[in-house]
Amino acid sequence: MSNKRILLIVTGGIAAYKSLELVRLLKRQGISVRAVMTQSATEFVTPLSMSVMTEDQVYGDMFDLKEEREIGHIQLSRQADLVVICPATANILAKMAAGISDDLATTILLATDKPVLAVPAMNVRMWNHPATQRNLAQLRADGIHIMAPDEGAMACGEFGPGRLPEPPAIAEQICAMLGHDFDTALTSGRSPTTLPSGASPTARPLSGKHILVTAGPTHEAIDPVRYIANRSSGRQGFAIAAAAADLGADVTLIAGPVHLATPRGVARIDVETALDMQAEVDKALPANAAIMVAAVADWRAAQAPEQKIKKDGGEIPALNLTENPDILASLAMHANRPKLLIGFAAETEKIVEHAQTKLAKKGCDWIVANDVSGDVMGGANNAFHIVTKDGVESWPESAKDVIARKLMEKVADALAKG
Ligand SMILES: Cc1cc2nc3c(=O)[nH]c(=O)nc-3n(C[C@H](O)[C@H](O)[C@H](O)COP(=O)(O)O)c2cc1C
Repeated sequence: MSNKRILLIVTGGIAAYKSLELVRLLKRQGISVRAVMTQSATEFVTPLSMSVMTEDQVYGDMFDLKEEREIGHIQLSRQADLVVICPATANILAKMAAGISDDLATTILLATDKPVLAVPAMNVRMWNHPATQRNLAQLRADGIHIMAPDEGAMACGEFGPGRLPEPPAIAEQICAMLGHDFDTALTSGRSPTTLPSGASPTARPLSGKHILVTAGPTHEAIDPVRYIANRSSGRQGFAIAAAAADLGADVTLIAGPVHLATPRGVARIDVETALDMQAEVDKALPANAAIMVAAVADWRAAQAPEQKIKKDGGEIPALNLTENPDILASLAMHANRPKLLIGFAAETEKIVEHAQTKLAKKGCDWIVANDVSGDVMGGANNAFHIVTKDGVESWPESAKDVIARKLMEKVADALAKG
């Protein structure tokens, strides 16, 4: 029997009712749960229901004399191995990012020295709002673990990322963070298909890891209507982000302009230019591993006028270029450098040779080289040469999602070895 304990903070979102199911699942795994509810949460779930599920008193009032005689807001998290906020509203994420402590939940979160897992759930517009994304980046930098929301139809009738992951997936994530074996047989009543597609319930070796992936091309403006682009479709990067999420990672996908659906369980940030991509990569740190798949333009127009350049029969305008930042090389030098840094090299000749040069020049750990002289860009298949300081591993041509899964399993192995 486990002696692991969690402190569950329930906030006021429409998905709050699922916290009752989460408590049931955790208790079946042998984990004891003590609950704190915000005032708004009590509009969605009664403290009585929560109290019945936890078989304990439910906490909510900071100024309850009985609780505070022993400085209850400090004691509550001291007695836990992990603090979980589920569901986590946009509001509590914002308060945490700002260090606000104006009720029992936020005061506990500011006072705790225990690991904290936030499981956000909200309307897709709230999730995509720059303020929420800014707050999430701040919380990650503060060491808070964020479980990526699911994507799909929402209670409000909209569609997109922001749905609470299913309780078995949350319970599994909590077990992984507690170092507690997750017994799927004990999640009965729920189908294991509620886990991200393709994930075997026991195969989530990237649980608790934050993986950063960049994908797609960048567009560099020449003027308001013209731009420099490349043929990257983003499909390989998106497949890698999906595979990382399937293996349990908290995935941030920074995507250039592509027309692809966001993989389930992945937090996506859309950008247009190399400069935007670099800024978002910086904000997404820290990460355990970064896989830089994007085909970032090496150059951009030195000046991009605000008005369209007119074809007026005169001289043909010269396109003056200036160099874009080298995102991979700057990440290798970053104070927050991910432990495992992987670059991609799209080559049309001397594939391995060029990749070996790139590995030495960029300061990353692996280069994944691929031959893009055929129809790889935009196609369904890819073949990888994994170039490391120890040698070269060549993988045969496979579907992009199959090779992505193989790569992420290799990443999981490397992170496990430390
Ligand atoms: C019907 C209804 C559903 C809501 N659902 C959500 C939600 O899913 N996610 C969210 O972030 N806020 C949601 N809100 C807004 C929060 O309840 C509101 O921001 C509240 O101040 C959150 O307080 P708390 O973070 O202290 O619990 C909802 C509000 C209503 C009335």
